[in-house]
Amino acid sequence: MTSLEVQDRRLNTLDGKEWVKRTKSWFVINPRRRNADQLSHPAKYPEELVERFLEFFTKPGGWVLDPFAGVGSTLVASKLLSRNSVGVELDPDFVSVAQQALREIDGEGFYEIIVGDSTCITELLETYFEGNPPMFDFLMTSPPYWNMLRKSRGGNDSVHKDRKSSGLKQYYSESHQDLGNIGQYSRYIEAVSQILEEAGSFVEQGKYIVVVAQNMRDVDGTMRPIAWDLAARLSRTFLLKQEQIWCQDNKRLGCWGYPTTYVSNVHHHYCLVFQKQ
Ligand SMILES: C[S@@+](CC[C@H](N)C(=O)[O-])C[C@H]1O[C@@H](n2cnc3c(N)ncnc32)[C@H](O)[C@@H]1O
Repeated sequence: MTSLEVQDRRLNTLDGKEWVKRTKSWFVINPRRRNADQLSHPAKYPEELVERFLEFFTKPGGWVLDPFAGVGSTLVASKLLSRNSVGVELDPDFVSVAQQALREIDGEGFYEIIVGDSTCITELLETYFEGNPPMFDFLMTSPPYWNMLRKSRGGNDSVHKDRKSSGLKQYYSESHQDLGNIGQYSRYIEAVSQILEEAGSFVEQGKYIVVVAQNMRDVDGTMRPIAWDLAARLSRTFLLKQEQIWCQDNKRLGCWGYPTTYVSNVHHHYCLVFQKQ
């Protein structure tokens, strides 16, 4: 193989030392304080989290897709790192915040966030790109964690109260298209999976998909292992490579079950890594 061919086949531009560091199965990222616009969204992930994966799974100039784009963290990180990006987000208010954030930062590349229901992602991309949508090098996203934002439980209860007293949204929307409003858990897992399968059809063969999710405890104490259930369901379509565990160690610890019952403080998320086959 010529050195040009090797260069072309490279997954990223990291040197060996950095590559090895990034393959550790857990890492800590403490989200920075959000600005007022970003606070309008109840569950954004930090741009640093996206940057970590973009640097591993893409090269500058690559194309990135996020079907649950929220306030645009995936697109902002992509622009900062000179990747091209396309997002789809149901709520127009979040899209406005994303567009403003994208205008305010320096960076290169194409970026567009489309308002719409990702259940119709093929149609949305076909329409926007006039029948010729790009193929993507990487998909990174975080779906709603079922309807958990609507439920008062342990830590969520205090977050709810804080957001409510500050006049901020406690959940995404009232829309029946919002996956965070689905009543039945199995239907939610299926709906997220179907969207990701369809979005995945726009990802190049052999390229990667990262889905950020968390296992949750329901109000009655039942565990809803969203991350594990999505990993199992999506394994039917994509090759599950591993998970990386994103830990936060700057969150308040709550004293939930003391002194009788075990209730954990969940300060980690699963970043499920799949490969398109
Ligand atoms: C966990 S948030 C994603 C946050 C995003 N990663 C960020 O950092 O801003 C999930 C998003 O999915 C959106 N959503 C829910 N149902 C949707 C659907 N059917 N189509 C598109 N977006 C949807 C919600 O409005 C919410 O913004």
